[in-house]
Amino acid sequence: MNGEGDHWSEAADGWSRYWGSVARPAWEALVDAAGIAPGTRVLDVGCGSGEFLALLAGRGAIPLGCDPAPGMLAAAARRAPTAELRAGGFGALPWMPGEVDVVVAVNALSFAPDLDDAVAEAARLAGPGGRVAVATWAEAALNDAGRLDAALARDDGEEPSPDDELRLPGGLGELLRASGLREVRDGVATGTWTAVDDDTLVAAILLGEDAAGLAARRDVVLDAARPLRAHDGSTTLRTAFRWAVGTAT
Ligand SMILES: C[S@@+](CC[C@H](N)C(=O)[O-])C[C@H]1O[C@@H](n2cnc3c(N)ncnc32)[C@H](O)[C@@H]1O
Repeated sequence: MNGEGDHWSEAADGWSRYWGSVARPAWEALVDAAGIAPGTRVLDVGCGSGEFLALLAGRGAIPLGCDPAPGMLAAAARRAPTAELRAGGFGALPWMPGEVDVVVAVNALSFAPDLDDAVAEAARLAGPGGRVAVATWAEAALNDAGRLDAALARDDGEEPSPDDELRLPGGLGELLRASGLREVRDGVATGTWTAVDDDTLVAAILLGEDAAGLAARRDVVLDAARPLRAHDGSTTLRTAFRWAVGTAT
């Protein structure tokens, strides 16, 4: 297991608690655009703690999931007990062509060793007429979490990272077209995410940090989030996701 897998395994419970369902607007867009229906075999690559798999099972699809992080797979097994789960990710997807109708990946593609190779691998697995359906966080201007990330970067003495091209309009669609997928459609799906109190907000934004890290950076998070804080002490962030769906040839 590599360091990245360790990182995600350790974060699995917190990820599920705070962020497991944040991408629900993207899930709905992908289900609709990819024509996922009862009986569709859907592989969620980088399935994390399994919340999308549970939704797919609830819609009557056949949920298949893989993730390189054992802790994430354990969480997914609890969250989506009917899903078939296997260890692995982009670079070595653990299914064979003909076994999957739709390959989905939500906030996971950017962890692939190579983006073009990852889409080509997903398309081979989906097979002719199968679909590849991907989503990622949209640009920071549409996501209030971007404001908090920028404040944390400045606190570290760094410039906030610019948006990579996948987060910008058309980026994901262009990636799919460049990999030979046809009938590519793309869009943006928006929603909100609420932390009920300051402790929840800090723990979620600083997920993976130890107690000393939480204490040291708590005020940076809370100061940056102050304009978003409601009278009841909760904080609601606007969320936005870019998505794209294409058909394999
Ligand atoms: C930000 S989480 C997203 C999890 C889930 N898809 C969701 O939307 O909640 C990223 C996930 O990608 C997984 N991951 C890391 N490297 C990967 C790879 N090479 N291929 C596929 N998934 C990978 C991590 O283990 C983690 O579960």
